[in-house]
Amino acid sequence: MTRPCGLCVALDTADPGTAEGWAGQVAPHAALLKVGLELFSADGAAAVRSIARHRPVFLDLKLHDIPNTVAGAVRTLTPLRPAWLTIHAAGGPAMIAAAREAAEKAGGADRIRLLAVTVLTSIDAAILAETGVSGGPMQQVLRLARLAVAAGADGLVCSPREVAPLRDALGEGPALVVPGVRPAGSAADDQARTATPEEMAAAGADFVVVGRPITRAADPAAAAAAIAAALRPRTLAPGVTT
Ligand code: C5P
Repeated sequence: MTRPCGLCVALDTADPGTAEGWAGQVAPHAALLKVGLELFSADGAAAVRSIARHRPVFLDLKLHDIPNTVAGAVRTLTPLRPAWLTIHAAGGPAMIAAAREAAEKAGGADRIRLLAVTVLTSIDAAILAETGVSGGPMQQVLRLARLAVAAGADGLVCSPREVAPLRDALGEGPALVVPGVRPAGSAADDQARTATPEEMAAAGADFVVVGRPITRAADPAAAAAAIAAALRPRTLAPGVTT
């Protein structure tokens, strides 16, 4: 089965003007534009509104609080119309279900889609053990992913090495969104484990998230276009390669 895989460009800056400039340059090649904690902390709702004029927004706030508070945040964010919003799976089923219910009530058919974050890639087995979780990151990722999808998450943010196991475990339904993606030959920056856009599309990702290889390129539009082109064969009918 073919599964389209789109490019999400991470607009990681505290300067709204810089983000707006990047958005204008990369929009023709991006399926989504990611507003993260840095830009949201600097410019809040205005940043989401401004970036959403270019392409649908992936709002990466990683919400994690009691169900009532997360539901209130989802309701409040709905008029900004982000396409996707991240929440922490570790918040538990009641929090995820409350977020889903709030999204449906406030947004109807055009509601915010929820992406659950399982284990941050900065957390390794030793840190997990310190927090009382045994069994290692992959086991915990699968446990939290199943819990999140059962409670109402529309998809998951996951690392490159988790895409294939999650697709196997969860089937075709949940969206898988993958940061840490680097075109062949580009710098890893501080990403410990990277994969190429082509590898992630083949493994079953729905969106790859790429930031610095695009935003720090001399020509961000050309860098985004090259990555989008690498993903494109995935969207064609079987046997069509142009
Ligand atoms: O610049 P770069 O391509 O590394 O940016 C990746 C984006 O994905 C950043 O916005 C980063 O916060 C986010 N991210 C990540 N790794 C995760 C989760 C999110 O790099 N595990």
